[in-house]
Amino acid sequence: MFFNNQIVLITGASSGIGEALSYAFSKQNATLLLCARNEQELLRVKSNITTRCEIFVCDITNYLSVDVMISSILLKYQKIDVLVNNAGMSQRALAFETEFRVDEKIMNLNYLATVYLTKKVLPVMISQKKGNIIVISSISGKFGFWQRSAYAASKHALQGFFETLQIELREYNINTLLVCPGGVKTNISKNALGKDGTPHGTMEALQLKGMSPESLAMKVLHASARGKKQLLAGQAEVFLYYIKKWFPWLFFKIVENVKGR
Ligand SMILES: NC(=O)c1ccc[n+]([C@@H]2O[C@H](COP(=O)([O-])OP(=O)(O)OC[C@H]3O[C@@H](n4cnc5c(N)ncnc54)[C@H](OP(=O)(O)O)[C@@H]3O)[C@@H](O)[C@H]2O)c1
Repeated sequence: MFFNNQIVLITGASSGIGEALSYAFSKQNATLLLCARNEQELLRVKSNITTRCEIFVCDITNYLSVDVMISSILLKYQKIDVLVNNAGMSQRALAFETEFRVDEKIMNLNYLATVYLTKKVLPVMISQKKGNIIVISSISGKFGFWQRSAYAASKHALQGFFETLQIELREYNINTLLVCPGGVKTNISKNALGKDGTPHGTMEALQLKGMSPESLAMKVLHASARGKKQLLAGQAEVFLYYIKKWFPWLFFKIVENVKGR
């Protein structure tokens, strides 16, 4: 088991993909450090975990809380072997209707908070000369799509940041895996922000018909253990990535006709 006895910090562990990743790492006998804002949901996830596990109620956009979380982890465990940057939220509103504070909120969580946390963990991994960073980006980090301007922008930003880290960290034996899933069956579309910042509240077909978080989690662990740098996972959305790459004119013809569905 590749992650046996490793210390794994997962953000957004209270639901969806983060929850499934927590169970997958637990099956590998890892020690789980679960971070999210909702304490009840974190406790529920923890109750399903059989290996050593601790919860951290932390809003990662609150940098002081992140500092406190990392300090207490290092005091107790002295190391972090795996950082899973998973916490994030999506958007469902046209760009010209979306209030700027919504753009800020999505960018703050999906991009800036992820970078802040990573920069807190990197010195530890560099001194260990060992580590795995897993970033749950999105296929929206590869192309723009209806009603996801801020979301796609934040995930494109992650691509730029972590691709650079992949290059810079090679000599420190730290692998960075950028995960770009298409639709996954979670509450992401329900929790997505509308134009005024209120939750969209709708479970969309992309999620309902999407892959299970458990099957994505298995692929993620497998890819990270093998030192892969990128994982594209999904159905038709992944084909769109290749269509954009090789036939950009066809990509725009297809997505312009989707009209936000
Ligand atoms: N589902 C999909 O179709 C899909 C596709 C591609 C990529 N993704 C990405 O996968 C990741 C996980 O999403 P999901 O699908 O599992 O959706 P989800 O069920 O809504 O999970 C989002 C997680 O992020 C946490 N979170 C939100 N704001 C936070 C904050 N300020 N501080 C700490 N944690 C926070 C939430 O926990 P609390 O509310 O308890 O804080 C929750 O655990 C996201 O980055 C998303 O962009 C999802």
